[in-house]
Amino acid sequence: MTTVGITGAAGFIGLNLIEHLLVTTDWRLVLIDRVAISSYPDFVKHAARIRIQSGDLSQFEFATLATEGCDVVIHLAAETHNDWSLRSPKAFVSSNIVGTFNVLESARINGFRLHHVSTDEVFGDLDEEEPPFTESSQYRPSSPYSATKASSDMLVRAWVRSFDVHATISNCSNNYGRWQHVEKFIPRQIARMLKDQEPIIYGTGSNIRDWIHVEDHVGAILEIVTRGESGQTYLVGTQNEMTNLSIVRALLEIFGEQDRNITFVEDRKGHDRRYSLSNAKIVRELNWQPPRRNMLDELGVLVEWYREHEAWWQESYVSAEERYSTLKKVADD
Ligand code: DAU
Repeated sequence: MTTVGITGAAGFIGLNLIEHLLVTTDWRLVLIDRVAISSYPDFVKHAARIRIQSGDLSQFEFATLATEGCDVVIHLAAETHNDWSLRSPKAFVSSNIVGTFNVLESARINGFRLHHVSTDEVFGDLDEEEPPFTESSQYRPSSPYSATKASSDMLVRAWVRSFDVHATISNCSNNYGRWQHVEKFIPRQIARMLKDQEPIIYGTGSNIRDWIHVEDHVGAILEIVTRGESGQTYLVGTQNEMTNLSIVRALLEIFGEQDRNITFVEDRKGHDRRYSLSNAKIVRELNWQPPRRNMLDELGVLVEWYREHEAWWQESYVSAEERYSTLKKVADD
């Protein structure tokens, strides 16, 4: 039976990945995270094949101990929010660069295969008329967040070449779906609307993101884990490009509140204009195809999910909004 370690297991993609693996495989799972995972979905009935390792991957001893016995490690653990990276970049260096370094060193010691989950943001941004990024596009990260993810990708490539670590990389576009933290764009707007507050848009709302359902991202990760070639990078996108404003308008329509005001606030510093990924390589080489989805229908389902799970996000919402409100007042802490 395969033993798979999942770093960042308590996060958005981690929780969706775990739920999928528990249902579709008999793999043993090692759930690695800094935050307690036990309060999340009910894993009790699968307890016999779950091991929980709570700790900080920026500590080398923890990284090697937590990954002991794993055949494969899917590395999701990262600080992921651009807005926080503008305020507290050091935490991003620690989690995303030092954490990945420790996971790679652990791969040398414990001999597991690694899949490193990264982001389209390593390539910087595009103008509206430019073609999508490909695996050979130049790295041009704009924010502390994307710079640390770009660095972690480089470490993975070097460890493959220099130390024969078996590793693959995927760079994915913006995910939406269940269990996403309410600090992020779509859940934040849903939570605000559920609380009768105005949606908040940075700048004019004309920035474009390529949206993929998190369950489709999970499917792509598993294709790469099972059939990807070591040393290879695969871009995971769906070319489902939407402006931020069009997403907020769609949500307002779902709420039946087309006339509600939208608050336009000062733009994010260094805000990337557009992301777009070509998925030609993963389609061609691994035969991965994202299922056809209607994002507007999916947003409707998501609104209901957040309505039903307010107890899960309420506390995070309060602290995220508090953090947003102090963002401008406080310099780097
Ligand atoms: O592209 C993949 C990346 O997508 C991931 O690597 C990141 O971890 C993930 O956070 C996401 O990055 P973004 O910066 O694109 O996501 P975010 O949800 O922060 O913002 C999406 C867009 O919405 C962006 O153009 C900024 C805008 N925005 C965001 C918030 C939170 C708003 O207009 N209003 C908001 O309140």
